Amino acid sequence: MKTVRGTDINQAASLLRAGSLVAIPTETVYGLAANALNDDAVLNIYKAKNRPSFNPLILHVENWAEAKKYITAYPADAAILANHFWPGPLTLLLPKNKNVPDIVTSGSHFVALRAPNHPLTISLLKALDFPLAAPSANPSGFVSPTTASHVMEGLNGKIPYVLDGGSCSVGLESTIIGWDNEKHPVVYRLGGISTQAIENVLGKPLQHTPSVLENPETPGQLKSHYATHTPLYLGNLSDLMQQHQGKKIAVIQFSNTEKIAGVSFQFTLSPVASTDEAAKNFFKTMREADACGAEVILCELMPASGLGPAINDRLSRAQAMYK
Ligand code: TXA
Ligand code: MG
Repeated sequence: MKTVRGTDINQAASLLRAGSLVAIPTETVYGLAANALNDDAVLNIYKAKNRPSFNPLILHVENWAEAKKYITAYPADAAILANHFWPGPLTLLLPKNKNVPDIVTSGSHFVALRAPNHPLTISLLKALDFPLAAPSANPSGFVSPTTASHVMEGLNGKIPYVLDGGSCSVGLESTIIGWDNEKHPVVYRLGGISTQAIENVLGKPLQHTPSVLENPETPGQLKSHYATHTPLYLGNLSDLMQQHQGKKIAVIQFSNTEKIAGVSFQFTLSPVASTDEAAKNFFKTMREADACGAEVILCELMPASGLGPAINDRLSRAQAMYK
């Protein structure tokens, strides 16, 4: 199959109406979209990504009014968060109704919903009369795509169209929030909105899933994920450099731009020390570090504020492949 890359919303819409897959830009990462109400189309997402069928998909909608067509009851907090953060990098895990095909949720009674914030995809959703099921547009387990070129690297020849919306402005997948039985808000995945920002709006603390890395509540929170082909290690840089002496080393740092002796390739996520900027550059930098010819990638931890924890979460999953 020839993969076309372009900015034609009408073409993207016709392909989706016909049950084909289209990669779409969002503010977080590119998504691999299909008509969520068409089982065959959704099945093709799993095939193209080589994604395990037990890992459910996010339903992308235009707004909260649309979202409500796919859920039963919801906690008041859910409406508050949707009204405050949508369109934006926040996914809400809520009880689904019968309008959501089981294949989208892998049989779960909960559906993950989000309204993405990218002008092309907002226009696309407006043009369609169905929601879009979409995981990140990368082969399962590997680094998420934040440009149309990244999508092509992983899916060229497997899908007919990539809607090119430039570089993703946030750069990390959405934060996923659900509610436990007592209706306390719970973070299921750290992401493009900081937990502090959400707590500020709700006026109460979020619970964190006990051990997201080891014992995933959301199936996609598998311990190894976001993997580079080059072995990646996370921790104190001088310790790591000692352990890997004699190798061709790439280093990923938060804000330092001074040259480090003994390092072949040096990447800085945010010279101005902003976790937002670091998030935006993160996946692109992971790809560059992976392709630069280093034998090992050594990363330092990001600060514990803003989007730092969400980046650290992805780094620890990338490292889990090599531990
Ligand atoms: O920002 C994002 O969320 C991007 C863009 C494209 O919207 N999407 C994304 O999708 O990151 P994906 O499939 O790579 O990650 C979605 C995560 C997975 O960990 C999946 O297991 C979880 O959400 N998830 C989806 N539906 C769920 C459900 N019904 N119950 C539990 N977890 C769910
Ligand atoms: Mg993903």
